[in-house]
Parts: sequence; structure tokens; C-alpha cells
Amino acid sequence: MFGGIAFPSLLLMLCGGVTSLRDVRLLVKPPMVIRGGTAALICFRDMQGAPLYSVKWYRGNHEFYRYTPLDEKPTQVFGLPGISVDLNNSNGTQVVLKRMNLTLAGNFSCEVTADLSFATQIATKFVDVIELPSFKPVLKADKDRYQPGERLRANCTSAPARPAANLTIKINDEPLRSSETSLHPSETGLLWTSVNVDLKVTPELFLSGRLRVACVATVYNLYEKQATLDFFTPETDPRPERITLNGSASKCFQSWIFLFLPIFLPMVVMGQVEDYFENFDDSFTYEEKKHHLSSLLGGETGRVLVLTGLVSL
Ligand SMILES: *[C@@H]1O[C@H](CO)[C@@H](O)[C@H](O)[C@H]1NC(C)=O
Ligand SMILES: *[C@@H]1O[C@H](CO)[C@@H](O)[C@H](O)[C@H]1NC(C)=O
Ligand SMILES: *[C@@H]1O[C@H](CO)[C@@H](O)[C@H](O)[C@H]1NC(C)=O
Ligand SMILES: *[C@@H]1O[C@H](CO)[C@@H](O)[C@H](O)[C@H]1NC(C)=O
Ligand SMILES: *[C@@H]1O[C@H](CO)[C@@H](O)[C@H](O)[C@H]1NC(C)=O
Ligand SMILES: *[C@@H]1O[C@H](CO)[C@@H](O)[C@H](O)[C@H]1NC(C)=O
Ligand SMILES: *[C@@H]1O[C@H](CO)[C@@H](O)[C@H](O)[C@H]1NC(C)=O
Repeated sequence: MFGGIAFPSLLLMLCGGVTSLRDVRLLVKPPMVIRGGTAALICFRDMQGAPLYSVKWYRGNHEFYRYTPLDEKPTQVFGLPGISVDLNNSNGTQVVLKRMNLTLAGNFSCEVTADLSFATQIATKFVDVIELPSFKPVLKADKDRYQPGERLRANCTSAPARPAANLTIKINDEPLRSSETSLHPSETGLLWTSVNVDLKVTPELFLSGRLRVACVATVYNLYEKQATLDFFTPETDPRPERITLNGSASKCFQSWIFLFLPIFLPMVVMGQVEDYFENFDDSFTYEEKKHHLSSLLGGETGRVLVLTGLVSL
């Protein structure tokens, strides 16, 4: 470091007391780097008018970048496994690192040396490289429906990440405190989280007939995804979802239905309705028949069919 010191500089040093460098600070943007991403390490300092001799950048104890403005070739890069310097965006003030991987997380430093006095100051920051979960949490319950008094048992698992995602269980949007969380290592060197839910189901939990269990995975304020399960009380339970056709196929099917409805409906309905009412004796009223038929057929289409059917009865 002291090789080639010019005589005036040496004189200045010997005379001593020259402090021409203050407040070396290292700023990392962003403070947490998502794996594969880019980070800018910005080295602030107050030179108090003194000329700059060098700025050196370290990962741990290993120097990987040096800026010496008075040299013929001011920037120098020292190969360090995993470090990829974006030379176009690096200079004497900042170094930009590209494609950062998880092994690069650690202490980074910048060391500033002033010319003449050779006063030196170093600033260090821990730079974290994180990996976000690659899919949303998976929430499973042991049953499809619960009666008041039963226990609802469910578990939720997050995708592997680093650091592990935090999982929060919410019952009707209220965080459930009494859920136990555990961490598990993944094969890829990450961590996944699991949480078990054991909840006594009470009638009050069915707000407007619905009990919603949600599992929210978060990583700091950088990531938030959730999975939800809805449970209904028997009275308000919507009929089981029928198969819904997707996209253009669905539209095509719908237009097809409306085109042929007037032709086929009376035939289809009369056949079914007659078969169906053979199971009843005459003690059933019109309303009861309508109700049974409606529940048999279900949904909007059912109602249309029922009306058409009853008209033709
Ligand atoms: C990160 O980079 C280092 C150095 O190139 C390499 O040895 C290591 O396998 C990489 N880690 C991952 C998780 O890609
Ligand atoms: C850096 O800049 C040069 C000239 O402007 C350009 O040709 C080169 O593609 C750039 N490199 C990167 C990695 O952006
Ligand atoms: C270094 O580069 C940054 C961003 O490109 C720029 O804002 C800054 O002025 C440059 N500093 C010097 C000393 O060239
Ligand atoms: C980073 O530096 C701090 C103190 O500056 C030290 O406590 C910590 O162990 C260092 N971390 C690593 C990964 O070297
Ligand atoms: C999670 O719950 C499901 C259904 O109740 C069960 O099959 C599975 O074994 C549970 N997994 C864990 C890790 O508890
Ligand atoms: C998880 O939650 C704890 C407590 O709120 C918090 O300190 C920690 O930073 C969180 N971790 C992640 C990865 O979000
Ligand atoms: C329906 O279509 C959407 C987008 O077109 C697609 O993401 C989804 O997977 C499809 N669902 C089924 C059941 O095919």
C-alpha cells in the first residue's frame, strides 16, 4: 500500500495531524437482493477537498474491485467466484453486481483512501441474498364440511424459500394465534414452513353462512401469497359446482343450448318429469313436487326446466 509514495505525501504524513477523510458509508440498493438480481453498492464519503487515491471493494476479506483514478487503468476487477461486476455501471462511487446467487450473501465493504495523507476508512454492510417461494402456500383440511362442535384440522405448507416464509392462519380474516409452526430443510438447501390448525367449530364462526380459513405466506414485505378454504353451513351450502367449460368451448356450448332449447326442452323435460313423478303418490302438493324437482335438477337451468316442465304437466 505504501509503495511509491511521493515525497511530499510522506512529508505530510510525517508532519501528521491531517485528517482529510470523513464519514465513509456504504449503502446497498436494494438492501435485500432477490436471487439472480442486481445490487448497487454505493460508497459515500466526505473527502473534505482532498484528492481520492483509491476505493477498494471487498466481499469478506477478498477484494474484488478497485478504483484508482490516477492510474492509467482506473478500474480493476479481481475474479471472485460468483461475483459478476457490471463494469458499465460501476465507477469510483458505486459497484453494481449482477446475477447474485445465494452463496454471495455476506459482509461487503468499501475502503476509501485519500491521496497525500493516505488516511483510510472502511465501511461494511451485510448484504442478504434471498429466494422467494416459487408457488403459493398449500392449505388442506381433513374434511369438506364441518358441523358445529366438530374440530377442524388443517395444515398449510409454504414453498421452499430463503429465509423461510412466515405463515399466518386467518379465520374469517382474523389471525389465529394458537397455530404451531415448524421449519423443514428442502433438498435444494432452502427451508419450507408448515403450520397445523386445530380449531373447534362453533356456529358463530359461520359469518353469513361461511367460514373462511386462509393461510398467508409472507417474506418480509417483498412477498405475500395466500390460499383459502371456504366452509358453508348446510342451509346455505351452494349446490355442488357443476363442471364448467372453459373459454370459447363454454361460450360455444351456451349458444348451442339456447339455439336448441326450444326444440329439445319440452321432450327432455316431459320424459324426465314423468319418470320422476312416478316415484311419488298423489299426496304430494304442486309446491312439494316443484321443490323436489328443483333440488333434483339444481341451479338456474334447473329452475328453467322446472318451470317449463310444470307448465306442460
Ligand atoms: C453460486 O456461485 C458459486 C460460484 O460461482 C457457485 O459455486 C455456486 O454453486 C452458486 N450457487 C448456486 C446456488 O447457484
Ligand atoms: C457496456 O457498454 C458498451 C458500450 O456502451 C456496450 O457495447 C456493452 O454492450 C455494454 N455491456 C453491457 C453488459 O451492458
Ligand atoms: C458513477 O455512476 C453513477 C451511476 O451510473 C453516477 O450516478 C455517478 O455520478 C458516477 N460517479 C462517478 C464519480 O463517476
Ligand atoms: C459480518 O460482520 C459482522 C460485524 O461487522 C459480524 O458480526 C458478522 O459475523 C459478519 N458476517 C459474516 C457472514 O461474516
Ligand atoms: C396435512 O393434512 C392432510 C389432510 O388432513 C394430511 O393428509 C397430511 O398428512 C397432513 N400433512 C402434514 C404434514 O401434517
Ligand atoms: C417473520 O416474522 C417475524 C416476526 O414478525 C419477523 O421478525 C421476520 O422478519 C419475518 N420473516 C420473514 C422472512 O418475513
Ligand atoms: C381455463 O382457462 C384459463 C385461461 O384461459 C386457464 O388458466 C385455466 O387453466 C383453464 N381451466 C381449465 C379447467 O381448463
